[in-house]
Amino acid sequence: MISIYKAKDYKELSRKAANIISAQIIMKPSCVLGLATGTSPIGIYNQLTEWYEKGDLDFSEVSTVNLDEYIGLDAANPQSYRYFMNTNLFDRVNIDIHNTNVPNGMAEDLEGECDSYDNLIHVLGGIDLQLLGLGHNGHIGFNEPGESFEKGTHIVDLSPSTIDANSRLFESKEDVPRRAITMGIRTIMQAGIVLLVASGKDKAYIVRDAFWGKISPEVPASVLQLHKNLIVVADEDALSKSPVTDNYTVLR
Ligand code: GLP
Repeated sequence: MISIYKAKDYKELSRKAANIISAQIIMKPSCVLGLATGTSPIGIYNQLTEWYEKGDLDFSEVSTVNLDEYIGLDAANPQSYRYFMNTNLFDRVNIDIHNTNVPNGMAEDLEGECDSYDNLIHVLGGIDLQLLGLGHNGHIGFNEPGESFEKGTHIVDLSPSTIDANSRLFESKEDVPRRAITMGIRTIMQAGIVLLVASGKDKAYIVRDAFWGKISPEVPASVLQLHKNLIVVADEDALSKSPVTDNYTVLR
């Protein structure tokens, strides 16, 4: 089933998506959450933290696996995804840091790191809910256009458009790492629920192409149309080029 929630703005989007994640944690306190970085999920993490502080959410049994990490950045580097996750969520709630996992972009054996990451997800029993943002070129995690849908965790060369888009978070474009480790599409597709969030006018065409366009490796997120339980939460701006009129639409 593909459900699309239209939120009026980023705040409402964050609240709705956080509600879905909370429901997952309440239904299965020992769940495995697949988490994402980027600017889109920040509001969700703030909302989850607020509910934790109120005593409404308990992360003590939750495990997490993050989608991706830049190669060459260590956990102390503020641009690393491990640092992002610690500061935006893990340090703010009662999760056991040992139960949080982000690929190690500093591993000496990067291929070995990819294999162990897949193995870890397997040992954890798979991902109950995977949160995703959406790249401007349709990438999910760092699965760039043209990649096979069959891959597990692997090393990627970032596309020029991703380097451009992500350079806004670095001092200069030259500082953006050229490579990353990412969970593959195969792993993402095996998650019980996929929750994708998109916000802003600059995502409007790619949201339309990903969920109403043809399924093709050229738009990696389009494969999600084949997922058994996909929830898209997007704001009005991100849905402004898509044929949705209602606040809640079931596509199929
Ligand atoms: C990065 C991340 C993706 C994320 C994307 C979109 O490239 N690797 O996981 O979805 O950016 O980011 P934003 O939410 O900031 O638009």
